[in-house]
Amino acid sequence: MSLLHFGRSHPAAQIAPPPSRPCVWRVGLCGGVLGAAPPTAMLSAMFPAATFRDVESAWPERGAQGFDLLIVGLNGADPSEVERAAARVAASAGRVEILVVLSGADIETTRRMIHQGAVDVLPAPVTDTTLTIALERIFCRLDTGRAQRRNGELVSILKAGGGVGATALATQAAVMLAGNPALNGVCLADLDLQMGMAGLYLDVADTVTLTQVLAAGGAVEDVPLASSLPAHNSGARVLVAPHEFMPVETLNPALVDSLVAALRRDFEISLVDLPTVWTAWTNRLLRQSQRIVLVTRLSVPHVHLVRRQLHMLEAQHLGDIPLTLVCNQMEADGVSGISLKAAEQAIGRAFDLVIPEDHRLMHQAINQGVALSALRRGSKIEAAIARLVDLVAASHVAPAALSIGR
Ligand SMILES: Nc1ncnc2c1ncn2[C@@H]1O[C@H](COP(=O)(O)OP(=O)(O)OP(=O)(O)O)[C@@H](O)[C@H]1O
Ligand SMILES: [Mg+2]
Repeated sequence: MSLLHFGRSHPAAQIAPPPSRPCVWRVGLCGGVLGAAPPTAMLSAMFPAATFRDVESAWPERGAQGFDLLIVGLNGADPSEVERAAARVAASAGRVEILVVLSGADIETTRRMIHQGAVDVLPAPVTDTTLTIALERIFCRLDTGRAQRRNGELVSILKAGGGVGATALATQAAVMLAGNPALNGVCLADLDLQMGMAGLYLDVADTVTLTQVLAAGGAVEDVPLASSLPAHNSGARVLVAPHEFMPVETLNPALVDSLVAALRRDFEISLVDLPTVWTAWTNRLLRQSQRIVLVTRLSVPHVHLVRRQLHMLEAQHLGDIPLTLVCNQMEADGVSGISLKAAEQAIGRAFDLVIPEDHRLMHQAINQGVALSALRRGSKIEAAIARLVDLVAASHVAPAALSIGR
């Protein structure tokens, strides 16, 4: 790794937005949100590409599957209703868009709903003109999103405390994945905004970082990540964390949606290195992940932190996303003073993978920005990370195909 690693930053390139094409949007009007006589006929005439259906329930939990957009009512004066709505909006990420019609509208509740990922918030009562303008904007956004969407896989990397080796594993896994010709594009996105090291661990140019990608404003999904992000010589593209201090709140659910859309469009697999903090946007990103990898070490404090993370995932209704629990930096027998079995019992589940400690090799790889195999072939740590790669890419490539050539 170059010790003087100062790249010159320049704005991200822009691509022309893809042409919008007509499609059918299914809209649910929930719980009489638009009054006793909803303007369904007017809406259908204005938006022939959309269907509007009354839904009895104020918030159709299961029925939401059949809709692209739900228009829901919310009484801003009822704190418990606001609380429930915030959780429901967050839980809708990636499944259905939510347009909130807010009575007793105030800025705080409006901002909260937008922050959780509502596509818009309109003060009640809604006039036909306001609704039409809002829907026009929303359909346009949905059109663009649908035209761009591709089904790349998002794998989020969480850690049980700092320094467990999450970034080291993510970088090595990305390099291995990129070496497989069967995979069409691999990206490591470092969203550890303040402490991100992925770019340094892989010694990639830092000409385009998250700062430049976000500078694209409301059009993050238009940035051609596959061609503009710096590449490691394995072929893995890296979305480098900002050099300068960036508050964690710089990202928000809407920006995350755009970023996820761009990543899924441009890469077959994106590994996302997340900060330790939980925020509305990390929640949103996890919710759109096809897999979560939780990395820890074998120590009593880390076991507690794993439990805390698992509880948090459950509490946030993220427990149904496939999770791979990795115990990293496993020392030679007995050194840590706690057995794997005892840790697994305390956690309440088994580790999916145990990765041995090899400080020397890992440090060398990080310092030179290379794959472990470039320094030594056939190490135990490399074999263990290869198993992680097999798990992560299982739905894309047969494990045997992935292991060939490593
Ligand atoms: N299996 C391993 N064997 C030995 N050392 C390792 C292993 N995995 C990671 N390390 C080392 O652990 C240190 C911390 O790694 P890393 O920066 O990846 O942790 P992190 O979980 O991303 O931490 P942070 O909280 O700073 O994001 C690094 O020095 C790295 O070389
Ligand atoms: Mg890290």
